Amino acid sequence: MAPQTRTETQTQTEEVTTQTGRLNLVGGGEGPQYPQYLPSVDHTTFPDWEEIPYVDAGTRGTPDKRHLFLPGSTHKPLTPRIGEEIRGVQISQLSKEGLDDLALLAAERGVLVFRGQDFKDIGPERQLDTVRHFGRLHIHPTMPYPEGLPEMHVVYKDPASTANAIKPNETQSISSVVWHADHTAERQPPGITFFFALEVPSAGGDTLFVSATEAYKLLSDGYKERLEGLKIVHDNTSMIEYAKSRGAPARFNPSKHAHPLIRTHPATGAKIVAAIGAGEGNGQPRYIEGFKREESEATLRLLNDVLQRSGDIQARATYEPGTVVVWDNRVVGHTPVHDFEGERRHFIRIAAMAEKPF
Ligand SMILES: [Fe+2]
Repeated sequence: MAPQTRTETQTQTEEVTTQTGRLNLVGGGEGPQYPQYLPSVDHTTFPDWEEIPYVDAGTRGTPDKRHLFLPGSTHKPLTPRIGEEIRGVQISQLSKEGLDDLALLAAERGVLVFRGQDFKDIGPERQLDTVRHFGRLHIHPTMPYPEGLPEMHVVYKDPASTANAIKPNETQSISSVVWHADHTAERQPPGITFFFALEVPSAGGDTLFVSATEAYKLLSDGYKERLEGLKIVHDNTSMIEYAKSRGAPARFNPSKHAHPLIRTHPATGAKIVAAIGAGEGNGQPRYIEGFKREESEATLRLLNDVLQRSGDIQARATYEPGTVVVWDNRVVGHTPVHDFEGERRHFIRIAAMAEKPF
């Protein structure tokens, strides 16, 4: 499998219909540099995910990350509490032990920003195989993927795109910021997630991250005790139904699961406030099981105030050509920032599904 050349279908495809509406793929100026990674129209459906055993790669990592931080590499925190920027390491050249160290570091720091990577040019097969090291690869239930590559989620915007019209006008938000973790309604939601840049705007299009392990530490002991043992119901029915209503792909049946509100990371043992974006808009974390509506809403609002307003546990990932960002979707929440106009932004996300939260 090496679809490195522009396919006939993609050449002929000037527009696709997504859950977000009409996405015009032909912008002004030069064409996309990575046409083989453009979104394609594909209504293939898949069987719902079976529960499978999961062993976190980070449990095999070394405390000093000796297989990742090879001689000549440098790394520094993005902030004291979250994030690490790494230079002089090629992910594509890492050993299995190096990938294990990467998983542990992602679990500890939440988000890793790797600069100067050749990852975007090693081809889909190696890209997918690299992330497969961390678990079964997720398939987005509704959004377009590059032709024949369902395990790649395309994030694409060009000067002619209308993809930023993510909601009907009457419900459009003032800000593009939408804090969330990816696909938490799955029985085994994604953990290690790769997000690599194919084309970046000259400025902007960053991603904001917040540490849900650091958020937990900020809470008082008494409040932590009250939250312990609670479950929060996650549901992606509205996403699937919205896709269907727009004629966009709906590849899986809706997924609804009750996961611990305070979950534990299998590699670090850290406690995590697993409620980012809860109860807001069409987000997947919906309500606390067994609480009355006002109790659930008030609790989730408080937790999201901590997560979304605490700049001291947040970081901003910026992108350059060759940047690969890796985050642990259990440890951090994130939000895109749509602050650029008139330029192309083309990214691929590959996510490995992790354990059933505990
Ligand atoms: Fe996301």
